[in-house]
Amino acid sequence: MEPRLPNARGPLSMAVLELLTERAPRSHLTRVEASLGDADPYGLDLQLALYVCYELHYRGFAGVDPGWEWNPGLLHLRNQLEAEFLTAVRRDVGDIEPDARAADETDRLSVEPVDGSGPSYYLRDTGTWEQMREYFVHRSLYHLKEGDPHAWAIPRLIGQAKASFVAVEFDEYGGGRGNQLHQQLFADLMEAAGLDSTYLRYLNDVPAEALSVVNLMSMFGLHRDLRGAAIGHFASTEITSSPGSRRLVEALERLDAPEPCIGFYREHIEADAVHEQVVRTDVVGDLVAREPQLDRDVVFGIRARDVVEDRLAAHLMDCWTSGRSSLRRPLS
Ligand SMILES: [Fe+2]
Ligand SMILES: [Fe+2]
Repeated sequence: MEPRLPNARGPLSMAVLELLTERAPRSHLTRVEASLGDADPYGLDLQLALYVCYELHYRGFAGVDPGWEWNPGLLHLRNQLEAEFLTAVRRDVGDIEPDARAADETDRLSVEPVDGSGPSYYLRDTGTWEQMREYFVHRSLYHLKEGDPHAWAIPRLIGQAKASFVAVEFDEYGGGRGNQLHQQLFADLMEAAGLDSTYLRYLNDVPAEALSVVNLMSMFGLHRDLRGAAIGHFASTEITSSPGSRRLVEALERLDAPEPCIGFYREHIEADAVHEQVVRTDVVGDLVAREPQLDRDVVFGIRARDVVEDRLAAHLMDCWTSGRSSLRRPLS
C-alpha cells in the first residue's frame, strides 16, 4: 500500500502538498508558484517539501496522481529546493583541496577515533531503550528504503565499478530472498521493538535533520551530474557501517533487546566489513581510474554525508543529554 501524505510544515511543503491533491495537468506546462524567500535550507518546511517530491520517484503516495512524478511545474520547484539545499551543503563542506583523493578520504573513514562520541557511542554506554527506539524511528526513513536511493547510480556506472556496486546492492536486497531484504529486516526490527513498520509511518514525527540525510542521497542518486558524489556517499555508508553497527549491537545487548533488533545490526557488522573492501577497491578505485575528474566529487559526497549526519547526531545528543525526546512527537 502507498504511504499517506504528511502534514504541511510551512509555505513550501504546503505548496507541494496542495498540488498533489489535484490531478496532474497533462497538456500544458504550468509553473508552480512558491517563493523560497529566506527559507532555511536545512529547515523542516524545505526538507519536507523536498522529501515529498523525491518520494514520487519511490513509492508515491496514496491518492496522489502518479503523473506528478514528471510534471515540469513541480520539477521546476523541486529544482529550486535542491539548489538551496545543495548550496548549503557545499558551503558547509567547504573548499575541497585540489589534490584531494577519494582513496585518502576512504582511508580516513576507516580509522575509528579512539575517543569517539555521538549517538552510537552514547547508546552503547548510557542510552535508554526509549532513546534506542527513537533512533530506530529516525533511521526508519532510510532503512525501510535501504539500497533504493543508491540504486539510481547503477545505470551511470560501467565495468568493474558497476559489477561490484551491484554485488554489494545484491546483499542489501537480501541476495534473492525476500525475507532477507535489509528493508524487511529493519521492518522486523521495528515490530520487535513495538514500533509500526509501515513505510513512512513516522514521516510526520521526525525532525528536519532525519529528512535531510535521506534527501541528500536521493538528490545524489537522481542526478547523473552528481554520480561521483553518490558513489562517495555509498562508500561512506558502507565503510562506516560495520563499526557503527558493532556499537549498536553492544547497546542492544546491554539493553537486553529482542533478537530481531540485534540481528539487523549484527548482519551489518559482518556484511559491511566485506562490502568495505569491495567498495574501496572495486567501486571507488575503478570509477576514479576510469573517470579521474570524478575523484573530487567522490570526496565531496563523503564529506557531504558527514555534514548531514553530524547535524542529525548533534540534534540527537542535544535532546538526549537534556532529557528531551528527539522526535517532534514523542513515542507513547
Ligand atoms: Fe544493509
Ligand atoms: Fe552493506
